[in-house]
Parts: sequence; structure tokens; C-alpha cells
Amino acid sequence: MSTGCVVMGRSWVLCCQETKMSQIDRIGVSLEKELLDAFDGLMAKKGYPSRSEAIRDLIRQQISVEKLADPKAKAVAAVFLVYEHHSTKLMGMLADLQHSHFLQVISSMHIHLDEHNCLEVIVLRGPVGEINKTAESLISLKGVKLGRINLLATEMT
Ligand code: NI
Repeated sequence: MSTGCVVMGRSWVLCCQETKMSQIDRIGVSLEKELLDAFDGLMAKKGYPSRSEAIRDLIRQQISVEKLADPKAKAVAAVFLVYEHHSTKLMGMLADLQHSHFLQVISSMHIHLDEHNCLEVIVLRGPVGEINKTAESLISLKGVKLGRINLLATEMT
């Protein structure tokens, strides 16, 4: 629960920022002491304020990972491309991407790394399969030296 939320009753929370109501259910989890100690250590290392918040994040992360196995699942992705400054084919491909019917380009950023190399970060939204296909075709282009795609499935149900 973020700052500014109002607890209503025992099991309903009204979050002012999201302006929607979520039902909160409490669950009990049994763990071996060693496992709990390891979890608490990990939690402290990452700076979680509570076990509940850490467990919620783990569950969301795992659901997102599982969703990514479905090519039709909705996702967002950041595609990182390091490429030669003089590669014009890549620039044309990036322009084609902007006109794709399947993907929505949310944003892109260009950074001049040094005299010869540029970094392009492209943020995409769309079905996982289309994002992967487009990203892989970009990464395999001549002139691209390094490429990486980071995907997140955004629907939790
Ligand atoms: Ni540049």
C-alpha cells in the first residue's frame, strides 16, 4: 500500500492514485527457518520495507515471466542496440518500425557513445511474438554490434 491510501474496513483498500478498489486477502505461508532467513537476507539486501511487499513483487515477477511464453500476451519491451554510427540501413528499419500495425513505439532515445558508435533504446508495446520478431530483426541487422531485448508482460490476470 503506497502513501496516501485509505484503509476502508478490513479487506478493502481505496488507493487514491489508482482510483480503483482492490480486495486484499491475507494468506499464511509456512517456511523452513533456513529458507525464511535466506529470504529475509535477500529482502534486506534489496531494501524491501516488508515481507509482504517482497512477496508481492516475486509473485508479479513470476506471473510476468510465465506470460512471456505466450506470443500473444501483451507486453512492453526496451530494445537496446549498439551500432555503427554510419549504418544507414538501421535508420531506415527504425523508421519502418514506427509504421508497424502490430507494434506501438512508445519512445526511442539516441545516445552518441563515441566517435563510431551509437546506442538506440526503443520502447515497444504489443504482443510478445511481434516484439521478439521485430527486435530480433533489428539486432541481426548489419552494423548492429550489440543488442538486447528486455521484456515485461504487463497483465497480471
Ligand atoms: Ni549517434
